[in-house]
Amino acid sequence: MKKATSGSPGSPRPAKTRTSAKYKRARVRHFLFTVGPNRLSGGRVMRRHLSQDVVVRHIEASSPRWPKAFDGLRIGHVSDFHLGELLPLDRALAIVGQLGDQQPDLVACTGDVVDLRHDEAAPLLDALAALKAPMGAALVLGNHDELHCADTVSRLARDAGVNVLRNDVLEVHFNGQLLTIGGIHWAKSARACARNIDETCGEGVDLLLSHNPKAFQRAADRNIPLTLSGHTHGGQIAMKNRPNANIAIGHRHRAGLFSRGHSRLYVTSGVGAWFPLRINCPAEIAIITMRHADETAAPSDQGHQSKRRSRKRMR
Ligand SMILES: [Fe+2]
Repeated sequence: MKKATSGSPGSPRPAKTRTSAKYKRARVRHFLFTVGPNRLSGGRVMRRHLSQDVVVRHIEASSPRWPKAFDGLRIGHVSDFHLGELLPLDRALAIVGQLGDQQPDLVACTGDVVDLRHDEAAPLLDALAALKAPMGAALVLGNHDELHCADTVSRLARDAGVNVLRNDVLEVHFNGQLLTIGGIHWAKSARACARNIDETCGEGVDLLLSHNPKAFQRAADRNIPLTLSGHTHGGQIAMKNRPNANIAIGHRHRAGLFSRGHSRLYVTSGVGAWFPLRINCPAEIAIITMRHADETAAPSDQGHQSKRRSRKRMR
């Protein structure tokens, strides 16, 4: 396995500090939506939040563009740990253990590893790498990682042995075959995501990791067979049995599996949270089995949901 091409390697990004306006706004939000309600409830809000199940969701998807050699590849997709007050390290490590129980071929983490602090990121990233998935672990950063410590999270991940993709393409050689994985910087708009994809993906990649699902528009334009994203948390509050009907109103692709042409997108609801409430939208680990489909398979433009899920109560 090696880092192959780099769209804009080490693109200089402005360093965030703990005094940046965005970081201050995030702290205020954290106080208003987490610390305040928890204090007012005598700690009940957090206790209830931390006792909720984490679901293992199994998804099957297929595309004629997916390499035949990797038909049936099982990707363990986790996202949005938001390690910190809302997801303590012991619970995060238990989730990684739950992921390991599924024995994925490849681990993909689509960002927001940390939230407002990064002092416990190293053991979590070490645990992801220690799963020793046969095709390794790859990570893109999210907006919460970028708030003040993107370079630190990135360094800790690399030290652990996780492949960090910041507008990079990773070539994974496995059983004599090659799978290309592109990963892009956090970007807020579809247009900025598209720019990152254009800068990074060259001739195209087999798998794209983007924290923001808004990358899917350009990914589908470029016939990238599979894009994995997080960021929306599935809105955290959704209508019963309608995961995509949720409060992540700034997004078209809010939760679940989507198709356009021969391209597929899976948006995970994530394992963590940025406020301590989930309704009809459990935290999840996604196990995605990706199939090579017949070229004659009819292209689809529909969103649809995963097939099956199993529950396991966190300790
Ligand atoms: Fe997030």
